[in-house]
Amino acid sequence: MPAEVLRFAIMGGGLIGREHAALIAATPGADLVAIADPAPAAKLVASEFGARHYLDYRTMLDEMRPDGVIIALPNALHAQAVIACIERGIPCLVEKPVADTLEAARDLVAAAERADIPVLVGHQRRHSPDIAKAKQLIEEGHLGRLVGVNAMWLADKPEPYFDAAWRRQAGGGPLLINLIHDIDCLRFICGDIAEVMAFTSNSVRGFEVEDSASVSLRFSSGAVGTVLMSDAAVSPYNWDTAAGQALYFPHQPENAYFFSGTKAALALPSMDLWKHETEEGHWQDPLVKRHVTLDGSRAYVNQLAHFMKVVTGDAKPLVSARDGMMTLATILAIVRSGRERRPVNPSDL
Ligand SMILES: NC(=O)c1ccc[n+]([C@@H]2O[C@H](COP(=O)([O-])OP(=O)(O)OC[C@H]3O[C@@H](n4cnc5c(N)ncnc54)[C@H](O)[C@@H]3O)[C@@H](O)[C@H]2O)c1
Repeated sequence: MPAEVLRFAIMGGGLIGREHAALIAATPGADLVAIADPAPAAKLVASEFGARHYLDYRTMLDEMRPDGVIIALPNALHAQAVIACIERGIPCLVEKPVADTLEAARDLVAAAERADIPVLVGHQRRHSPDIAKAKQLIEEGHLGRLVGVNAMWLADKPEPYFDAAWRRQAGGGPLLINLIHDIDCLRFICGDIAEVMAFTSNSVRGFEVEDSASVSLRFSSGAVGTVLMSDAAVSPYNWDTAAGQALYFPHQPENAYFFSGTKAALALPSMDLWKHETEEGHWQDPLVKRHVTLDGSRAYVNQLAHFMKVVTGDAKPLVSARDGMMTLATILAIVRSGRERRPVNPSDL
């Protein structure tokens, strides 16, 4: 029987772990009981939220027996942490990417499906009403046949962000940390991505991982897409600041995704829908802009509310481990394409 107040624990009290802690603390019916993180700063985070501090997450799981766990560890540690939860029968929300390699993701998916323990992957934008509305508009044919999409994730990260070594190394670059959210949204809205071709560059920061990339996409539907990404570029063209959903970024209303179909175009997150006045209209006729305002600012709040339902057995994960693995396969295809300078099909990995 689920307890009236759900007891949560967090693995990793860093940048996003602290945000999850604050969200749990602000959510009725949720209690943060413990944080596991060997970093000295995490002890302070735990005491700030009145939670017990553990150095080792396995000891935390065994002693605290939480109802649900949020995994906010460096990417390479996700799979083993998810499996530790599954082995103890505890549902978890694992931050994206679900794992850092497809091998690790496959092990994790097999373990979760065998044990039938729910794993929710932290692609929080799927819990945002604007993303859901865009999918609905396209599926219902409001854009006609989808021709293509142009997406951008461009932002300037500060130097101290890279003090954490994992963010400079393979498995921790902006493709796996940031663009994976956009690729997940595009898969969700437009359907599976059959092939990718990428150019990646580390010429600005000079780290082992990329700082910038341009990517061409071919969707299974026949639609095509282009994506531009950099974590070294000053720009308002990224979902995090454009949508006002992020927990620690300013809101700079702009657009990050542009969908074009045979009947209309749609920009997100502004939700501007451009159409001719009549069905017969063409490129020499004016377009009319219709604006659908949706509050997407609650993506993380909605995600936690959904996770609480997953924990009590009242919902299946909106982004399952298997779904997260498909998004991971697509982003890893982009990484490989950039390295090998050739088109890559995610299902060939
Ligand atoms: N969904 C989002 O919006 C979002 C935003 C930021 C980060 N993330 C993801 O969250 C994860 C964490 O990112 P971050 O930016 O918070 O990283 P971070 O480096 O700030 O925090 C990671 C924390 O994990 C701790 N840690 C390392 N090894 C550990 C272990 N064995 N046991 C317990 N704790 C350990 C570190 O000490 C650190 O405090 C990454 O997977 C990242 O991709 C998601």
